[in-house]
Amino acid sequence: MEQERTWVTVLLFCLSIKMTRADSVTQPSNSIVVKQRESSIIQCKYETAVTAPGVFWYIQDPNQAPQLILSVYSEKEDIPPRFQHRFSASHEKTEKTFHLNITAAVLSDSATYFCALSPTL
Ligand SMILES: *[C@@H]1O[C@H](CO)[C@@H](O)[C@H](O)[C@H]1NC(C)=O
Repeated sequence: MEQERTWVTVLLFCLSIKMTRADSVTQPSNSIVVKQRESSIIQCKYETAVTAPGVFWYIQDPNQAPQLILSVYSEKEDIPPRFQHRFSASHEKTEKTFHLNITAAVLSDSATYFCALSPTL
């Protein structure tokens, strides 16, 4: 069987919304390449003095508006069907991380991903 040659490219950007000056979001690498059907963690580390910040993962498909994948408030059933079974993230409040775990990558996962912080509530 021919070797699988198709790759999924994931572009990462960080975005921090409604920030106070001390708040920030860090995504260590700007782009990662994932082999189809493989898993990947997209990192998101934030800094804020707020104890219960909103942290959100958005996907932006080419020529589309960003779309919410999930947030720290999402229950599994809130996650859109496209992402529900393969995308997850667990909020590590002590480490201040909300890494996105993508399993069994497919070509249509090729997109720009934003981790966003909203230190409200
Ligand atoms: C990512 O999610 C898959 C499926 O839920 C799980 O098996 C795997 O352990 C997770 N990876 C990490 C690093 O959390």
